[in-house]
Amino acid sequence: MSEDSNSAILDPISNVTEGCRLPVLMSNGEDWRKSGHSTLAEVISIKDLENKRLFYVHYIDYNKRLDEWVEEDRLDLRKIQYPRRDLASSTTGLNTPKKTLTGATNSRPSSPGLTTPDPITGPSVLAALQQKQQKIKKRKLDPNEEDDGRRASIGSLGGSIGSSIGSLGEIEIAPLTPLTPLTPLTPQQNVPRQTGSLATHSDDHAITRIKNMKMIELGKYRIKPWYFSPYPQEITSLDCIYICEFCLKYRKSRKCLERHLHKCPFKHPPGNEIYRKGSVSFFELDGRKNKLYAQNLCLLAKLFLDHKTLYYDTDPFLFYVMTECDMRGYHIVGYFSKEKESSEDYNVACILTLPPYQRKGYGKLLIEFSYELSKFEGKTGSPEKPLSDLGLLSYRSYWKQTILEILIALKPQEGQEKPQLTINEICEQTSIKKEDVISTLTNLELINYYRGQYILTLNKELVESHRKVMEKRKVRIDSKYLHWTPKDWAKRGKW
Ligand code: ACO
Ligand code: ZN
Repeated sequence: MSEDSNSAILDPISNVTEGCRLPVLMSNGEDWRKSGHSTLAEVISIKDLENKRLFYVHYIDYNKRLDEWVEEDRLDLRKIQYPRRDLASSTTGLNTPKKTLTGATNSRPSSPGLTTPDPITGPSVLAALQQKQQKIKKRKLDPNEEDDGRRASIGSLGGSIGSSIGSLGEIEIAPLTPLTPLTPLTPQQNVPRQTGSLATHSDDHAITRIKNMKMIELGKYRIKPWYFSPYPQEITSLDCIYICEFCLKYRKSRKCLERHLHKCPFKHPPGNEIYRKGSVSFFELDGRKNKLYAQNLCLLAKLFLDHKTLYYDTDPFLFYVMTECDMRGYHIVGYFSKEKESSEDYNVACILTLPPYQRKGYGKLLIEFSYELSKFEGKTGSPEKPLSDLGLLSYRSYWKQTILEILIALKPQEGQEKPQLTINEICEQTSIKKEDVISTLTNLELINYYRGQYILTLNKELVESHRKVMEKRKVRIDSKYLHWTPKDWAKRGKW
């Protein structure tokens, strides 16, 4: 059988090259030798260590944070596929399909259990939205379809649906807001941008595809990094690096960190504390004035952010660091960065909750805060694209909850049978950009077109499930506690 062959052959381990694909036993996965289950993976890199050959593998269709070094005994050599010559660049592992929106991620327990049957990948969301739009457009163009003015009077769906919101409610959207163009999650959003504190990267270097840090210690937590981050090479070989949780400087041993902690004057991030409620605070810092902290924050963030490369010029960004306070100080929980001026209305460049704090609602709190800033600015905003799989999940969940909150609270005005509002009003109240409002309503399948008007129908189940999730979302941003005046960076000339 030729080397180009893609079919199954038996081959010795020495023939495994970078770019090969073969079933691999995942850490914590089932043993294919017993169960016959394994996961197709691509070999990204190979190294010899203490007489052992190690293979860095990427599990196809899984998020890169599951990539790992494995030994020979985890490879199922019976089903190896060699890289085809015509796919070239086999040594860089470029035949792995690149995904920036990895919504289809299947993960082990530590990773998102994306069991939803609704695909959340950018392209599929787009396709679904476009399909819906086309249907709507088609209906609009259908001469048999009644299209009486679009601002039309309140209509009930078939006239038989109860109108009280909270049980089975309808809200008319008027006037008709065009459902095109849809910008969220479009293919253009996968185009690398050269701005952003962590600009999107072209992912063409094998080296940046390989996790280079084994462990970090930050405050009381030991955290296993998910992705590559360009820390100095000499420290990447260490079993653990030790990071000061207040100034984010890194040290190569605990002893060195202890020495640093004796000298380090900080008990909180630099910048101004612009929000404090209970134990949660937000610090705003300028990427130009607090460059070293900002760069160290980006290095740390890159360990958990894929699809972005580190961008050393932090000058054009503000950083909003969220902390939890106790007797020992203000401990970093997460942050987001924001361009001082964004031509694309981005209100977040990068957003991160550190892994020990994830899945506790802090991500939504960061997102809520970012929109609160936009409200103070009197603008709508949207996160920089592409979003990661977890970013997309979090934003979609935030948008859904925020919009439902408004719709459910809506009361009909005097003389109206049903409450009315426009999409622009939703944008104004939430600072969520119009495209994101539209995509959320569309994804929720709330929009119905009836007799020339759009009607939102909220069913009991949706209202009830919303009530339940909101009960759990106890910690919220309270604008009373935000002490902040937006700056007009355009007028300031230089940042
Ligand atoms: N699996 C399944 N769902 C998840 C997961 C997960 N691992 N993590 C978060 N979610 C869902 C939650 O269920 C929740 O939705 P729900 O309330 O409807 O159940 C929603 O996402 C938000 O959960 P939070 O607990 O508020 O968010 P968290 O603190 O975990 O932070 C974040 C979310 C910031 C995306 C975090 O996962 C993270 O830092 N990831 C790594 C960095 C990253 O991907 N950032 C976004 C990049 S995009 C950009 O920067 C613009
Ligand atoms: Zn320090």
